[in-house]
Amino acid sequence: KTDVKQIYRGSEKFFNQEVIIEGWIRTSRSSKTFGFLELNDGTFFKNLQIVYDDNLINFKEIEKLSISSSIKVKGILVPTPEAKQPFEVKAIEIEVEGNSAQDYPIQKKRHTMEYLRSIAHLRPRTNTYSAVFRTRSVLAYAIHKFFQERGFVYVHTPIITASDAEGAGEMFRLTTLNLDNVPKTDGGKVDFSKDFFGKETNLTVSGQLEAEAYALAYKNVYTFGPTFRAENSNTARHAAEFWMVEPEIAFADLQDNMKLAEDMMKYIISYCLEELPEEMEFFDKFIDNTLLERLENVIKSDFGVLTYTEAIDILKESKEIFQYPAEWGMDLQTEHERYISEKVFKKPVFVINYPKEIKAFYMRLNDDNKTVAAMDLLVPGVGEIIGGSQREERLDLLKQRIIENGMDLEDYWWYLELRKYGGTKHTGYGLGFERAVMYITGINNIRDVIPFPRTVKSAEF
Ligand code: 4AD
Ligand code: MG
Repeated sequence: KTDVKQIYRGSEKFFNQEVIIEGWIRTSRSSKTFGFLELNDGTFFKNLQIVYDDNLINFKEIEKLSISSSIKVKGILVPTPEAKQPFEVKAIEIEVEGNSAQDYPIQKKRHTMEYLRSIAHLRPRTNTYSAVFRTRSVLAYAIHKFFQERGFVYVHTPIITASDAEGAGEMFRLTTLNLDNVPKTDGGKVDFSKDFFGKETNLTVSGQLEAEAYALAYKNVYTFGPTFRAENSNTARHAAEFWMVEPEIAFADLQDNMKLAEDMMKYIISYCLEELPEEMEFFDKFIDNTLLERLENVIKSDFGVLTYTEAIDILKESKEIFQYPAEWGMDLQTEHERYISEKVFKKPVFVINYPKEIKAFYMRLNDDNKTVAAMDLLVPGVGEIIGGSQREERLDLLKQRIIENGMDLEDYWWYLELRKYGGTKHTGYGLGFERAVMYITGINNIRDVIPFPRTVKSAEF
């Protein structure tokens, strides 16, 4: 038994040898005495061509198989230097493992992505999604590899939390259906504010606060896990469930943070280009034909840096008509982010030092008392891909910011203690993993880079 990836990567070794392959039929055509199948076995982006003829005892059965039937083929791999594909398998035996019904909903023609979203359980069998989700897997590995090679400790931060890491209130509340575990009020009613854990809990919006605790023990750490946001934004880049990569580094400032983010982006892009040449070429050809040029440029160029104030000035002076005119103090909208990265810089750019009012409570206050040491990385095609900051390490200022934000100091007692016991300057960021997949594949809707996406009013599967 072998697989299609091994054959493509070391084909000479298999030439004129007997091979056994199991996979699904992608296309099938036949005439009276012979037929061709394109087989995909899942291990590789490309199909393997199978030729068979009426020497097969089940020739008639094979000829009638519909798309996506699963089969086992025994045959000889022969080079075909004259043909479109470099080699093919001349079948000796074909065994049917699982028939596919005639109404298989994916045809050879191109389907819209909207349609394929409605069959999320079958779409990984198409070229596009097969490429996207393998890239997603390789990208996840590249991220781990980058941090592990640099000695970062991977911290599994909790999914269920009692604190709001962003202080934005965009959380999904947790309750138990087993009411036996829930305390009752005096009147015998279920007290949901106490619930299973004795207090209100939520799905985490970010692992940052816990990552900070571990950075102040290990110096360099990262998290990589699912996060949840009840944001009511029905856009192509927001999901209710998404994955985030959050490094946190101690004895480091915003400059160090930007350096880490830039190194990471270049590393993970290079890794995908190297490991997935077939998929990347496919994206460039069928999804976005400036992709490869753009990504190769990212690896070569230095990322831009500008302050929020400078960004607002650029937006104000530009001739572009924005839906939301730029004004100091406003949060940058996607249209602004894209204008700056696509039209002005034409490459990834960090925007730093945002007004404190529009950023989270934990960001370090700058000397101007108006802005915080925040950094967002904006990239062409996607907009904000990374959000991060240097953290407020001064206990009194941090307390003040928590109170200003209308939050409860008591909920953050442990977070405050990190400043009390050997606190140091530290910094970190969050990479939206799906946005990174979008960026590297050229896919422009987040629903198409998550196997089973959850967005507002949509959790079909
Ligand atoms: O900018 P955000 O909200 O930052 C944080 O959560 C910090 N705690 C990160 C840190 O400093 N450790 O989110 C970080 C990134 C965004 O830049 C974006 O790429 C992604 O997470 N993101 C989302 N991706 C998909 N759907 C959503 N609803 C997202 N919200 C944020
Ligand atoms: Mg952000």
